[in-house]
Amino acid sequence: MGICGYFVAPWKCLVVIGVRLLFLVPAGVPARSGDSFSKDNITVRQGDSAVLKCTVDSKVSRVAWLNRTTILYAGADKWSLDPRVVRMDNTPVTEYSIKIQNVNVHDEGPYVCSILTSNKPKSSKVHLIVQGHKFVTEGEYVDMTAITKEQSGSYECISSNDISAPDVKTVKVTVNYAPFILKAGSTGTPVGQKGVLQCEASAVPGADFEWYKEDRRLLNGLNGIKIENQGKQSMLMFLNVSEEDYGNYTCVAMNTMGITNASIILYGPGTMMHDVNRAALSTHCSFCLLLTVFLLFLLKF
Ligand SMILES: *[C@@H]1O[C@H](CO)[C@@H](O)[C@H](O)[C@H]1NC(C)=O
Ligand SMILES: *[C@@H]1O[C@H](CO)[C@@H](O)[C@H](O)[C@H]1NC(C)=O
Ligand SMILES: *[C@@H]1O[C@H](CO)[C@@H](O)[C@H](O)[C@H]1NC(C)=O
Ligand SMILES: *[C@@H]1O[C@H](CO)[C@@H](O)[C@H](O)[C@H]1NC(C)=O
Ligand SMILES: *[C@@H]1O[C@H](CO)[C@@H](O)[C@H](O)[C@H]1NC(C)=O
Repeated sequence: MGICGYFVAPWKCLVVIGVRLLFLVPAGVPARSGDSFSKDNITVRQGDSAVLKCTVDSKVSRVAWLNRTTILYAGADKWSLDPRVVRMDNTPVTEYSIKIQNVNVHDEGPYVCSILTSNKPKSSKVHLIVQGHKFVTEGEYVDMTAITKEQSGSYECISSNDISAPDVKTVKVTVNYAPFILKAGSTGTPVGQKGVLQCEASAVPGADFEWYKEDRRLLNGLNGIKIENQGKQSMLMFLNVSEEDYGNYTCVAMNTMGITNASIILYGPGTMMHDVNRAALSTHCSFCLLLTVFLLFLLKF
């Protein structure tokens, strides 16, 4: 190991040992004669192929490619067990090249071409740099704590690096929340006329509605009643209001996230009444919005 002391970098030492073991370089050859030169680094994208080129001339008697200290190829002989490592054919005689297919992050590091010219070892080092794809699913994320329904929408994640066009990914964030009643009301309706009670609820997913008079559920098409749901709104319609219809009604709005209700009074003309009994609005769910976030990753390259 004494010869290694002459070298500054440990890899050079290891390369010389590798070359000595492989080619049985006579012990008398001064280690100092080992020459080395550094080529430009190679940057490849993960999954692509990396070609490692080494220039040789007619004086070169032996040549090998090493991954750190492991011999990948020695002359025409493959030492590496990795099927991704192949020798490049059809290259000029002055070129000794190997290809690493489907490069991954573990392949990153120094590769050494060792050549033996007139019994003098020489080596050239290239540093393989592997650029990984940046995926949102791979650690890049936006933390949205205490998410509110106003934060729903499309978010764009743009990742870029030096060697490829930026990746753009659209992330759709849907904030689900329990219904809360925006509007509940009626107008004074005389007997014998059409009457309408309205109820409007904000909810994601959209709310389903039910109507009650006291404890009795009201159904569409029965007892001169029609229930019409349209988006956020539900309407309870009386085709021909009678005296018995006047009274206290309840609109119930529900979705998978929760349930709420509001009371609405159907009253006659001239009866002064607040159209909504606000105190009856069940608000317990509007404040403790149990929210879930669905992330839809729409891949766009
Ligand atoms: C090659 O990469 C190594 C390690 O990242 C670095 O130290 C060296 O300066 C680079 N050489 C060139 C020529 O870019
Ligand atoms: C290079 O060596 C590293 C470390 O031993 C290993 O993980 C990687 O698979 C090797 N790559 C090739 C192409 O031999
Ligand atoms: C409404 O009901 C009353 C009482 O039952 C009836 O006399 C009247 O004709 C009805 N009006 C309509 C438009 O059906
Ligand atoms: C209507 O009914 C609800 C509950 O069913 C009650 O809280 C509210 O006070 C009633 N409104 C009136 C005006 O009686
Ligand atoms: C309306 O909400 C109140 C408070 O949550 C609840 O006690 C009541 O039973 C609800 N009424 C209906 C008809 O669902």
